[in-house]
Amino acid sequence: MDYQWYPGHMTKAIRQMREDIKLVDLVIELLDARIPLSSRNPDIDSLGQNKSRLVILNKSDLADEKQNTLWDKYFKDKGYTVLKVDSRVNSLAKIVDRAIEEACKEKIEANKKKGINRPIRAMVVGIPNVGKSTFINSYAKRSVAKTGNKPGVTKGKQWIKIGKNLELLDTPGILWPKFDDEQTGLNLALVGSMNDNNLDSAELAFQFIKLTRDNYPDVLKNRFNIEGNEDIVEEMYQVADVRNCKLPGNKLDLDKASKIILDEFRSGKLGKITLDRL
Ligand code: G4P
Repeated sequence: MDYQWYPGHMTKAIRQMREDIKLVDLVIELLDARIPLSSRNPDIDSLGQNKSRLVILNKSDLADEKQNTLWDKYFKDKGYTVLKVDSRVNSLAKIVDRAIEEACKEKIEANKKKGINRPIRAMVVGIPNVGKSTFINSYAKRSVAKTGNKPGVTKGKQWIKIGKNLELLDTPGILWPKFDDEQTGLNLALVGSMNDNNLDSAELAFQFIKLTRDNYPDVLKNRFNIEGNEDIVEEMYQVADVRNCKLPGNKLDLDKASKIILDEFRSGKLGKITLDRL
């Protein structure tokens, strides 16, 4: 399968990101905890050079807890401040505040020494569908005010003032998925960060089962109450059968069953599954 992204969007996104990053002290990078490497655009390291950095493993509620712990350590070992979250919960404020403080420790101290007393400015970046808006909404719930057009700072930009010490750019930065190997493209497609219209559901579901067989051998059996089978297509037919996916003429509808498998993986109904493994 050919997983594509749109070059036009890419160029525009890079330009916008370069401009926005100039305005901030801290880059909050959201990754999908199920695919921390595949959902990471490595260009962020050069775009975010000289900025404080915080890595958020988002959707960690959908990912394998053991793998979450390993990925948390992986990014910490690389020197980032790391936080595992489920952005849909409303109690993010304290832990995010603490992580931001840690990520910006040096900046805060340097400002103090220079006698500069102004809030840390931050922006959230990540690929589409990783949860940027959800994270911002959840974190900024207690926001006091939106501040626009600050002279000398942010013409045309909206900032959300959070407490006394932070201003968050209210529009997240959209990073484009970046990959030249097929596995990364496949992972992005599986979690739903690609446009499904261009993808073949049966092929995707087949690849999902193949990919998760070793580490999560029983997910389909448990979820759909099927016997299971060595043969992946046969197992997909079993899902079609128990979920009554039928074509005219009473033939089993593999495409419909595939969509169910993908939907249930994406919504966590198959269990906590991590595709990028450590
Ligand atoms: P974006 O701005 O980065 O594009 O992502 P957005 O916040 O719109 O979130 C995309 C989807 O991911 C949303 O689902 C949202 O609820 C879900 N989501 C975000 N953060 C988390 C998280 O930490 N855990 C879980 N389980 N889900 C999260 P949606 O509104 O149902 O949209 P869709 O999934 O139908 O596209």
